[in-house]
Amino acid sequence: MNTVPSPAEPSSGARTRQASRQTGPDRSAGAHRGGDRFRRGVVSFVRRSPRMNTSQEHAMARLGGRYLVEVPHDTTSTSVAPGSHLDLEQIFGRRAPLTMEIGSGSGDVLAAVAPHHPERDFIGFEVYLPSVASSLTKLDRAGAHNVRIIVADAAAGIEHLIGPGELDELWTFFADPWHKKRHHKRRIVSPDLARLVASRLRPGALWRLATDWDDYAWWMLDVLAAEPGLEPCDAGDDGFAPRWSERPLTRYERKGLDAGRAVHDLSWRRVDRPGDDPLATPALDRPGGDPLATPASDRPGDDPLATPEGPGGNR
Ligand SMILES: C[S@@+](CC[C@H](N)C(=O)[O-])C[C@H]1O[C@@H](n2cnc3c(N)ncnc32)[C@H](O)[C@@H]1O
Repeated sequence: MNTVPSPAEPSSGARTRQASRQTGPDRSAGAHRGGDRFRRGVVSFVRRSPRMNTSQEHAMARLGGRYLVEVPHDTTSTSVAPGSHLDLEQIFGRRAPLTMEIGSGSGDVLAAVAPHHPERDFIGFEVYLPSVASSLTKLDRAGAHNVRIIVADAAAGIEHLIGPGELDELWTFFADPWHKKRHHKRRIVSPDLARLVASRLRPGALWRLATDWDDYAWWMLDVLAAEPGLEPCDAGDDGFAPRWSERPLTRYERKGLDAGRAVHDLSWRRVDRPGDDPLATPALDRPGGDPLATPASDRPGDDPLATPEGPGGNR
């Protein structure tokens, strides 16, 4: 089994693209750290018992069959069984360029963007059931027939459900920031994920991200700059991209702006250079199966994350 370059915690101090490249994650040191993240089952969310209100339950019952895609699980309900694969032709009745969203929340971005791109298909990963239910109603109202939602950990889904180079675009908007240093290991944007994404995007395809947390924005920049399979696209001097014009204002962005925080967009592209091929390296090497699939709350002992605000990540 091939091993994956080891991630270390990115510094948040870099303030230029050049600086980011110099101070980004040390991929040579601490070879065990990234593997540990997965072996210990660290995921980017805490899934509490999801209480849906009556209208959400109704939405699930009425629209679940149309928009939800069931996938084989492994040890938990948000895991994805290794060896699974999505039959996109069966799901969408065609094979079209595919966009995925990590943490699609209440479906605001999918419902706003997908109807304007009937030539593309979209899949959102979301683990918080009340948000999933709300997104079904929004997708239906928007007539977003080219969207499906998968209730599973996005990292596991991207790893196990699609093959190398099969992804035409990826979005990660307003991901849970996990502010405390001891929780940084839960941030979805990590060196492991960047390596995985680089392997799944087709050459030239984009990963779009946005966050209203300055510290996380620089963290993302460091992580992405250290991934040789990705290169910046449309980046200004500071490394950030202009706001993506199609991205609607979601309640998370509104909340950040209302609190006086700046929103940073990032746009990174899977490199398309001969000899720089992330597909040559399997995304993740996880001895002992798929520990990504085990949420923190299932682990015995120490769970400092038991009471986050909102779906997760102490926003
Ligand atoms: C702060 S919300 C942002 C939602 C949406 N992107 C938006 O901008 O409105 C982050 C969402 O990501 C979800 N999430 C976190 N980690 C996830 C993962 N590994 N897989 C799928 N969803 C995840 C959370 O449940 C939450 O709904």
